[in-house]
Amino acid sequence: MAKDKAKFICQECGYESLRWLGRCPGCGRFNTLVEEIISSDAHPLHLSAFSLDKPRKILEIKTEKEERLVIPLLEFNRVLGGGIIPGSLVLIGGDPGIGKSTLLLQVSCLVEKIFGLTLYISGEESPQQVKLRAKRLNISADNLYLVSETNIETIEKYALELKPHLLIIDSIQTVFYEALSAAPGSVSQVRECTNRLMHLAKRENIPAFIIGHVTKDGAIAGPRVLEHIVDTVLYLEGEKYSNFRILRAIKNRFGPTSEIGVFEMQDRGLEEVANPSKTFLAERAGDVSGSVIISSLEGTRPILLELQALVSFSGFGIPRRMTTGLDYNRISLILAVLEKKVGLNFSNQDVYVNLAGGVKVEEPAADLGAAVAIASSFKDIPAKESTIVLGEVGLAGEVRAISQLGKRLNESSRLGFKRCILPWTNLSALPKVEGIEVIGVKTVKEAVSIALKEMKDG
Ligand code: TYD
Ligand code: MG
Repeated sequence: MAKDKAKFICQECGYESLRWLGRCPGCGRFNTLVEEIISSDAHPLHLSAFSLDKPRKILEIKTEKEERLVIPLLEFNRVLGGGIIPGSLVLIGGDPGIGKSTLLLQVSCLVEKIFGLTLYISGEESPQQVKLRAKRLNISADNLYLVSETNIETIEKYALELKPHLLIIDSIQTVFYEALSAAPGSVSQVRECTNRLMHLAKRENIPAFIIGHVTKDGAIAGPRVLEHIVDTVLYLEGEKYSNFRILRAIKNRFGPTSEIGVFEMQDRGLEEVANPSKTFLAERAGDVSGSVIISSLEGTRPILLELQALVSFSGFGIPRRMTTGLDYNRISLILAVLEKKVGLNFSNQDVYVNLAGGVKVEEPAADLGAAVAIASSFKDIPAKESTIVLGEVGLAGEVRAISQLGKRLNESSRLGFKRCILPWTNLSALPKVEGIEVIGVKTVKEAVSIALKEMKDG
């Protein structure tokens, strides 16, 4: 038998070294190299899942029309790009207790109802515990199989025996491959087991979902390489004390990555939120200063959100800036533009900006809304309730065009908004939307003064 070898592997990026190093040359992080024993007689499978193939001309390769498993959970289908692709391997990450196990148990039950046998493998909970959760969720499925198992080879055996229409692994950090002597959850184990699951999924055409834990800084625990192996990476996110859960695609080989699914955690598990705009705006306080409605385009769907800002006198030398749901640097930039171009002085003011509902928005179309909300709070003049503010803010204080205004305006009009302040350059190509008045602005200053004047008039 060959001798076991020790290697030092970076827990962050998978970099391998024969000796310990304080700083990983691969990703530059400190203290991430951990010793792992690797049995040299147990060679990981390096064959590709498609390795029987010879090179062929692209025109000769036949594609079947992709058949997706579509389940009656629209928000879930949407995030995957229209349903579950047979043979795909999906990684779903998220903080502990966010609802990953709950979601996948619900999904496996729905798949069972329509397509037949599903297999749920839990390395974290006993079948009794899973059963209890299923009871709580009011799930009854004849052909939903549960097993508490962590040995990857046994899992493969069960999958081959049962040929499920969906395989769930909860979680990848508990699964191990016996031939590797490293502990479960370590880089080599996680990588090896994921590789084996990928082979299984592709060879048997079984869609598999694996749950992955998330570390403190938000990455899926264990190696980043995990994200490269799988077909799709989903994140289930949400504020700890809010019931909303957002399922987001980070990577998707079979669809767009910008789509989100909105759920609400109820007594009976996760329920989809069909009309997120309405839900997110439900708690809006009305005519208060610092609150502005924006429209964010998540994937193909516009969502209206309340953007709140609070500007208050700072008692300390260095004023605080805090953002939730929006990019901190983006807000710093907007503050700088407001100081320089609109003449508002924030040097002794704390600024807090918050997007209600625990949603995150990255697109710059929210800039102008943030600028108006901050100005509104600074001057303590409330925004008129039925106005939407949209636009990207440039460094010269100009308002720049944004995309897909038609969709955003339609959604705004549908929810009863009467007026929209938007980039002037968008006006020429604007589709006609019933019941909504549009006001084009060229600069942030103009937007703020129109908004404030409006506010005073209204
Ligand atoms: P869980 O799916 O176990 O989280 P994860 O697998 O991501 O760690 O979810 C656990 C949380 O969800 C727990 O705090 C209780 C809550 N929950 C509900 O509010 N309603 C329910 O019906 C269920 C099953 C759980
Ligand atoms: Mg769990």
